[in-house]
Amino acid sequence: MPFNRKHLLGLEELAAEEITTILDTADTFKEISERPIKKVPALRGKTIANVFYENSTRTRISFELAEKRLSADTVSFSKTGSSVSKGETLRDTVENIRAMKVDMVVMRHGSSGAHRFLANFLDASIVNAGDGQHEHPTQGLLDMMTMRQHLGHLGGRNVTIIGDIMHSRVARSNIWGLTKVGAKVTVCGPSTMMPAEIESLGEGGVTVEYDIRKAIAGADAINILRIQLERQKARLFPSMREYFEVFGVTPEVLESAPEHCIVMHPGPMNRGVEIAQEVADGDRAVILEQVTNGVAVRMAVLFLVAGGSFESGTPE
Ligand code: CP
Repeated sequence: MPFNRKHLLGLEELAAEEITTILDTADTFKEISERPIKKVPALRGKTIANVFYENSTRTRISFELAEKRLSADTVSFSKTGSSVSKGETLRDTVENIRAMKVDMVVMRHGSSGAHRFLANFLDASIVNAGDGQHEHPTQGLLDMMTMRQHLGHLGGRNVTIIGDIMHSRVARSNIWGLTKVGAKVTVCGPSTMMPAEIESLGEGGVTVEYDIRKAIAGADAINILRIQLERQKARLFPSMREYFEVFGVTPEVLESAPEHCIVMHPGPMNRGVEIAQEVADGDRAVILEQVTNGVAVRMAVLFLVAGGSFESGTPE
């Protein structure tokens, strides 16, 4: 299915076929990163601004690498050291970047909906690199790409998301993306971190299970979330030690999952809080594969949002 969108704001608004188009395109682009010269001219002449109002390691480096591998010109902005500290608003900051004739804005922002707000008045394409607790669509896509590589297909597969569901934009993008393509999602975590009406989120809803061993019993993939202390206004569990005892994924807990079940984490990990050291570094972990796939997914998103297609062949 052709991808005709100017922006990528979230997975909620995409059709299953559009998600599949992005994943198929990412599969094609993955090979470019294996070449001795990791560059194609697909976005030559395009200028992309990476605007990060929140900290990032993986997403920011991954977008920058994806842009360079597609031959785009890039500029980077972070809140620290910018005129935001002098009181400049988001709209003014981005209007000024636009005045420098930028074609695309990749943005991470702490406010849910910041990207939709900008998309209403900017000519440039907007790509969401994470907005508050709302969505992190490229993370959801790279998680789906990794699952598809290991499980063959996503339709009918069981995916369990464990942890701080309430504050997690990764959980929301996974739930929207996975349910749209027919996977079944179970969420597990402390009741204090379970958002209201979570059961009805996604296409057809999700299952809520508070016992971690039951939650992973039939799972094909487990996605473990970081406890986001920076987004919690009040302490939502008694202690890190108690959280680890009840919801930490340890080798003993993992025995309840089928043997083929893969272990994922979007990073950054809190080892010894939501995931045991032995699990993070164990045979089932595909966490660094997720990071590798992130570059291919971001190449695919930038290429498609810029209007690219393979009608005239794969970019050489
Ligand atoms: N997964 C993720 O978004 O990581 P960063 O915050 O390091 O970008």
